[in-house]
Amino acid sequence: MRRVDTSKRKKFDFLVIGSGMAGLSFALKVAGKGKVCIISKTKLDETNTSYAQGGISSVTYAPDNFEKHIQDTLTAGAGLCDPKVVRKVVEEAPGQIEELIRWGVRFDKDEKGNFDLHREGGHSENRILHHKDQTGYEIQRGLVQAVREHPEIEVLEDHFAVEIITQHHLGELVHRWRRDIECYGAYVLNRRTNSVETILSKVTLIATGGVGSVYQTTTNPSIATGDGIAMVYRAKGIVDNMEFIQFHPTSLYNPKDRPSFLITEAMRGFGGILKRRDGKKFMHKYDERECLAPRDIVARAIDNELKTTGDDYVYLDVTHKPKEEIKAHYPGIYEKCLSLGIDISKDYIPVVPAAHFSCGGIKVDEKARTSIGRLYAAGECSCTGLHGANRLASNSLLEGIVYADAAAKDAIEIVGASTFCKDIPEWNDEGTSHPEEMVLITQSQKEIEQIMNYYVGIVRSNLRLKRALDRLEIIYHETEDLYQRSTVSQRLCELRNSIQVGYLIIKMARQRKESRGLHYNSDYPDMIKLGS
Ligand code: FAD
Ligand code: SIN
Repeated sequence: MRRVDTSKRKKFDFLVIGSGMAGLSFALKVAGKGKVCIISKTKLDETNTSYAQGGISSVTYAPDNFEKHIQDTLTAGAGLCDPKVVRKVVEEAPGQIEELIRWGVRFDKDEKGNFDLHREGGHSENRILHHKDQTGYEIQRGLVQAVREHPEIEVLEDHFAVEIITQHHLGELVHRWRRDIECYGAYVLNRRTNSVETILSKVTLIATGGVGSVYQTTTNPSIATGDGIAMVYRAKGIVDNMEFIQFHPTSLYNPKDRPSFLITEAMRGFGGILKRRDGKKFMHKYDERECLAPRDIVARAIDNELKTTGDDYVYLDVTHKPKEEIKAHYPGIYEKCLSLGIDISKDYIPVVPAAHFSCGGIKVDEKARTSIGRLYAAGECSCTGLHGANRLASNSLLEGIVYADAAAKDAIEIVGASTFCKDIPEWNDEGTSHPEEMVLITQSQKEIEQIMNYYVGIVRSNLRLKRALDRLEIIYHETEDLYQRSTVSQRLCELRNSIQVGYLIIKMARQRKESRGLHYNSDYPDMIKLGS
């Protein structure tokens, strides 16, 4: 190993990788129990959380109750949810919402002072707490402010986690299935100095969010390249459920936008109707719940209509709703559409499905512990068992905060007994140089996104998945070769991570010999009866 400069070495009791809802809420909960550091690969507020529109689900008033929310979640999950996890998340929701409010997050209320609850697809009651159509922005604002004001939390923006540090970096042989791999911190690229720093920790939380940017058409911001999932997979941690990628049925059709702008599902709860370009309704052909069927059904129905008609988009129609109500509830969507010349109180909104959410990720237990010691995961990068084969709308922010809380409680318990690992070598980039052709990285990233869009999208087949895998393998070898020769850069690492994540989605999709929830394979159109 060369260039050992231990002055670069930072040490924290709690290292948090990611500054969305999961990372920030974990940090606030462990602060005071040790030194805390949050790293974020760009700015603190560039997260999927900031983009969330619809809201956060929680049972608030009768006639709603926990059993109804549990049942709706299980129904959406198509037999693969873990019922114990579903109960835990649903029952802990009200307490976690109160905590958010204590941190300064505001949810809309009606004129009587009661929470104004929205309804989304798959929910049998109105139970979505929201802040207009910008709930995520409001949550992120509240949490960022609380974190910035906290004297015991250090924030490092523009710090990109390259790898988590485990015994592999000590040259030790470890076994994936025994819980003998441990995490000692992370190698982190400081984007301001362009050097890789070693950050040591007693406990690490991965909260790196989703994988949407692996697809060409996505609602996710560009940070969502599945870095945490890829890092854990490379460290031989367990990743699960990756075949279940959720496509949101209604993103605004505007090919110039990346990410695609979301038209919240709450608009269908508000009365929005899906129509073909010829103005005809179609959802009644697919499901008796029509426009309020769960997302997988609506997205597949739109996909089918587009393929049948050859159109590029369908419409969402809210023109029958009063203009003042539209503007009051959905000001963000109203303004965005108006900026494109669409007055949604008079014009239909052109919409298409877009990759939106990963139900799978780093496998965790009920305490948010991964298969790697001293390493927790929470939020969209994790797989808790809540979503099964399909996530119920607005259950994701909720899952993030409930599991950040579980992780915080357990991490506080173990941190006192943990020590820093002394023998960690510095990052070794000997013999490498800056990649000579950045264009290759950009081009390969685009290729991955196209492969995932066209072959691993809403409808899959054996042939498409095989084709995707073959194409990916070529890019994998080219990229690994480049990586071995190159000084670390964020874009190269993200490309590598996207390939890894794409591979995991394809591999797990090929292993599933049925269609279930979000995974539809035209060669196995039926669902296998569970237990058979
Ligand atoms: P994120 O909020 O995505 O944060 C990830 C963090 O990790 C970022 O700070 C990023 O910089 C950091 N990071 C990633 N990789 C690295 C790395 N290598 N090094 C350092 N830092 C890294 N869910 C709901 O429940 N209700 C909704 O209404 C809703 N609406 C949505 C609307 C849109 C448009 C989108 C995209 C998602 C929506 N979701 C919604 C899903 C929900 O927003 C996300 O699942 C959730 O916010 C994820 O939170 P998180 O904390 O896990 O990750
Ligand atoms: C939306 O507002 O439609 C998104 C909700 C979600 O992804 O849960």
